[in-house]
Amino acid sequence: MHDDVARGLEAARLRSRTLTEFDDRELTTQHSALMSPLVWDLAHIGQQEDLWLLRGGDASAQGLLSAQVEKLYDAFEHPRAARVSLPLLTPAEARRFIADVRGRVLDGLERADEETLFPYVMVEQHEQQHVETMLATHQLREGPAILGAGAPLPPGRPVPSDSVLVPAGAFTLGVDGDREPWSLDNERPAHTVDLPAFRIGRVPVTNAQWQQFVAAGGYDEERWWSPRGWSHRLQAGLERPLFWEADGSRRRFGIVEEIPPDEPVQHVCFFEAEAYAAWAGARLPTEQEWEKACAWDPATGRRRRWPWGDSDWTPAVANLGGEALRPAPVGAYAAGASAYGVEQTIGDVWEWTSSGFEPWPGFAPMLYADYSEPFFGGDYRVLRGGSWAVGGASIRPSFRNWDLPIRRQIFSGLRLAWDVV
Ligand code: AVJ
Ligand code: FE
Repeated sequence: MHDDVARGLEAARLRSRTLTEFDDRELTTQHSALMSPLVWDLAHIGQQEDLWLLRGGDASAQGLLSAQVEKLYDAFEHPRAARVSLPLLTPAEARRFIADVRGRVLDGLERADEETLFPYVMVEQHEQQHVETMLATHQLREGPAILGAGAPLPPGRPVPSDSVLVPAGAFTLGVDGDREPWSLDNERPAHTVDLPAFRIGRVPVTNAQWQQFVAAGGYDEERWWSPRGWSHRLQAGLERPLFWEADGSRRRFGIVEEIPPDEPVQHVCFFEAEAYAAWAGARLPTEQEWEKACAWDPATGRRRRWPWGDSDWTPAVANLGGEALRPAPVGAYAAGASAYGVEQTIGDVWEWTSSGFEPWPGFAPMLYADYSEPFFGGDYRVLRGGSWAVGGASIRPSFRNWDLPIRRQIFSGLRLAWDVV
């Protein structure tokens, strides 16, 4: 178990390094007002690791940074847009700092008891989350490609873009630490939820489908949009997904290419997803519906650890890990289907749900108590399933992500749902 944990930490670090082994200018420039300079994420990864793993979360204890410098990496203290003007560590200093922290952490890990491993994997997941954030920064960066075009993916297959029925009934929502030891606080505890029957899209909404929405004037017709969504659409001048051009091309990590029709659409905000669903005669799923369709096995009356069963992820069942730099075409993962036959829930694109971010009944904060709790009840919508960019250790069917309904620099798409009447 200790070796698995050490390997997970090292895998996350390899990804962090791959995204930051560039000239200092790339790392210290603010590529978008929505994002931190990459060097902030890099040092923040180490600062959090120092706090949770070297000081047990005691912020008043002395870490490897001075208290004054450490404060620069407090995400609550400094909004992303302001971080570029702070006296941050240089890229060389940040690299030295995170390596120094990691050396001490690995020493401590060797001596750690089996029951004290949770914070290590929590920190691994935190680093993986910032890796995805850094990929979003790279996608926003102007200028020629520096990450390449991405690793090959399995081909799609003709798959009906229809829906599957999830019959009415109770299921177990959420997980407990005994079965999912690395689950974060907001995924717990497991509890029974009864849902009416619903239908849910077999696969996520594709670029080709979204192009039909654009061509049909979906962005010009107020009737498909919520009142807030429409005023945001007008004010922000939304006309198509972020990174799409009017000529049918898109920009992806500095490469201009034709929009692939069969890929799940990404870079749409919640308000756009809602409007698309209304135009399509559908709605967004709730996160409860989404999780049932992903993880519940009606034949056994229990949850699967993954939609495809209890066996670990392999590249044959889902697009995770970030190397592809894009979602896989629909139909690419027949072997990854859930018990209900729903495909590509895990990986490819985060899927907007209609749900706000709220605690499950019985919620208890984890060691990193401000991970979830400050965000409950805010203007956030929950996203599920993870994107192509997430590390395998930081996604589960129970995993809950959240963001503001206007955000679309994230790797976000959608899947439709319908009431059954
Ligand atoms: C879970 C992705 C919403 O980036 O705001 C990283 C993850 N929390 N560091 C975020 C997170 C603290 C979080 N999300
Ligand atoms: Fe963070």
